[in-house]
Amino acid sequence: MRKGIVPGTFDPITEGHLDIIRRASCLFDEVVVAVAASLGKGGTGPLFSLDERVELVRTSVQGLEGVSAEPFEGLLVDFAREQGATAVVKGLRAITDFEYEFQMAAVNFELNPEIETVFIMSPPQYMYLSSSIVRELAALGGDFERFVPPCAYRALLERARA
Ligand code: COA
Repeated sequence: MRKGIVPGTFDPITEGHLDIIRRASCLFDEVVVAVAASLGKGGTGPLFSLDERVELVRTSVQGLEGVSAEPFEGLLVDFAREQGATAVVKGLRAITDFEYEFQMAAVNFELNPEIETVFIMSPPQYMYLSSSIVRELAALGGDFERFVPPCAYRALLERARA
């Protein structure tokens, strides 16, 4: 039984994330999408609460066999070990992601060499996509429906109107 972890902030989940999750589910028997309580390299504070982000991921992965979502706090390698996972799966969008991901993978390897980091290349249509781009499009009235799953689209519209 091979279990992989797809970690991230998911503020909110996008079609780019979903592409990585779907492809990870082809490589592993089980995939746990790990939604981080704190923000990664990004910004100042999440738009959606941890519970909201987990719920949006859960709704988006319904129908993907063997895929679930859980919140996590603390070190990613500790969460992966607690879950009985053998690998962390991350998406690589552009060359600019590489240095940061390389550093994270190296630190995680140092902390627990039994957890592999596996990279999946984003397809061209999602190379430029990020949650903050989508949040900005939503806030400024741009068309962003094709970039996010329907539940995230509705949640972003509601937040933009509030
Ligand atoms: N499609 C679309 N967007 C993507 C994407 C993809 N495939 N992959 C990443 N992104 C975007 C995210 O939407 C986010 O965008 P934003 O900054 O515009 O909001 C940005 O890339 C960063 O992604 P994020 O999900 O925040 O991940 P991260 O690479 O910064 O890592 C954790 C987040 C939680 C995995 C990481 O911080 C972590 O492991 N934390 C736990 C502490 C720890 O163990 N640290 C390691 C040792 S130092």
